Amino acid sequence: MKFGTSLMTLFGFCMLGSIFFTTAWAKTHHHTFIVKETPCTRLCHTKNILTVNGQFPGPTIYARKGDTVIVKVINQGKKNITLHWHGVDQLRNPWTDGPEHITQCPIQPGANFTQQIRLIHEEGTLWWHAHSDFDLATVHGPLIIYPKQGTMYPFNKPHKEFTLILGEWWNKDVNTVLDEALQSGGEVEPSDANTINGQPGNFLPCSKNDTVKVHVEQGKSYLLRLINAALSNEFFFNIANHHLTVVGTDGSYTKPYATDLVFISPGQTMDVLIKANKFQNSSSPSRYYIAARPYIGNTQLSYNANMTTAILEYETNYTNISAPPLLSSLPAINDTDTVDIFTGGLRSLADKNHPIDVPETINEHMYIVTSLNIILCRNNSCKGPLGGRFAGSLNNVSFETPQINILHAYYYSIPGVYTTDFPDYPSHYFNFTEYIPTDLYVTKKATKVKMLKYNTTVEIVFQGTNIGPENHPMHLHGQSFYVVGRGSGNFDKKKDPLTYNLVDPPRENTVAVPKNGWATIRFRAVNPGVWYMHCHVDRHVSWGMNMVFITKNGKSADAKMLPPPNDMPPC
Ligand code: C2O
Ligand code: CU
Repeated sequence: MKFGTSLMTLFGFCMLGSIFFTTAWAKTHHHTFIVKETPCTRLCHTKNILTVNGQFPGPTIYARKGDTVIVKVINQGKKNITLHWHGVDQLRNPWTDGPEHITQCPIQPGANFTQQIRLIHEEGTLWWHAHSDFDLATVHGPLIIYPKQGTMYPFNKPHKEFTLILGEWWNKDVNTVLDEALQSGGEVEPSDANTINGQPGNFLPCSKNDTVKVHVEQGKSYLLRLINAALSNEFFFNIANHHLTVVGTDGSYTKPYATDLVFISPGQTMDVLIKANKFQNSSSPSRYYIAARPYIGNTQLSYNANMTTAILEYETNYTNISAPPLLSSLPAINDTDTVDIFTGGLRSLADKNHPIDVPETINEHMYIVTSLNIILCRNNSCKGPLGGRFAGSLNNVSFETPQINILHAYYYSIPGVYTTDFPDYPSHYFNFTEYIPTDLYVTKKATKVKMLKYNTTVEIVFQGTNIGPENHPMHLHGQSFYVVGRGSGNFDKKKDPLTYNLVDPPRENTVAVPKNGWATIRFRAVNPGVWYMHCHVDRHVSWGMNMVFITKNGKSADAKMLPPPNDMPPC
């Protein structure tokens, strides 16, 4: 397998750095990630952004299932940072998982930390990103995991592959945007552009010349690795006149799923096959827009609904080059039906070589209401609803991020950092999906975790509410889960379980909990450690829509947490 320079043209480097790829498939891959400020221009605005190795998006990590990746992270920036390997189980090794103040203290300016990523179960497309403040806006990149040596894809080998990362760009410094919102208590300013591989595309100011181009040959098939690294936006995505076949999501294979569009939430990845078969003769158009535009369930609030584009370009002598690329329309911005139809069609591959293991008996039942809230301010002086400050909660607990990280406190038995009473159920039941009385909006901050015995089976029904504009893409660290059901309205514990798919539910690490609906996941807790669970909308994380699971050690030696590496960043 070889990755040529054509891949490099896909990424809009802010400063040309050397792209990381390994040519020999060693079992252990070593990388150095230098986090630093790099000048970058988009939409006619130049600012310093935080990058890895001067690249935006960051370098791609290539490995095979079973390999180990060692990344030495060197912080040459001016702020604290952490890095996370999104979708990697990190079996028995929460130490290098990355979420700030959950499993580690941040890497301070001038310091470094070597992170170990063992790829045991994952295969397909995952990604890595910063897990501190809003740094992930520019500090992210693909993590591509090929089948084990000697095994193959469960589909015909594509001619080539390419990776597209959906993201968001602010003209302002992203952490200034976050700080301003946290200070005022009000809403976070929406981004100025949506992007594909860091580029806004043809329809936004000063962007056209840098639009990402993907070159294809007539008659060949391609594997698209699609990643949603946006801080807020869920996207509809399509390629004009081209059919798509989803074959994987979140690092697990799916049954081939033919579709004209993909819906993808922040945190999720999709592996998609594309047949380049539209350039049949010299009069066919040779260029087609690759386009993404947000889905927003409630369009009353301010948001960035811009379409971002790249171009699929057939290799030819470009007789039609003057003609604009073709564009296929995308669903309306609030087209929830299309979201539900697309999402409902995903199934695990679940074949002989890719067996699944959906828990059938459940030891721990949880019903978790994912909500936006307010915290009251003195004299109603904040900029959120009712003069309060925006908050987010799970079962009405708004997570307070501790100063001492939870993994450290757990491992060394330091008292007073967290309590173990995260509620399995909400304290009040009401109609979550209609108008919610304001007294029920109010929440409080606390640092609560849920303890799990080793090998316990867990079912979580996430209940979305009517508050706020969007779905909540709930993401779990430390293990993937099966999404066994998803529906609208309040979860009905008699009827809705009858609709569960226990045969071939998709295996994901992030599930879009519908606004005004519910989603059910199941997993087996066989990874001892401290595992963050949070909404992948970054501002909801900063408002407290998060919690922590602690899975205890099992009895056997291989069911225990590994000891910490000796270079854990000090606080
Ligand atoms: Cu992709 Cu906790 O993150
Ligand atoms: Cu959310």
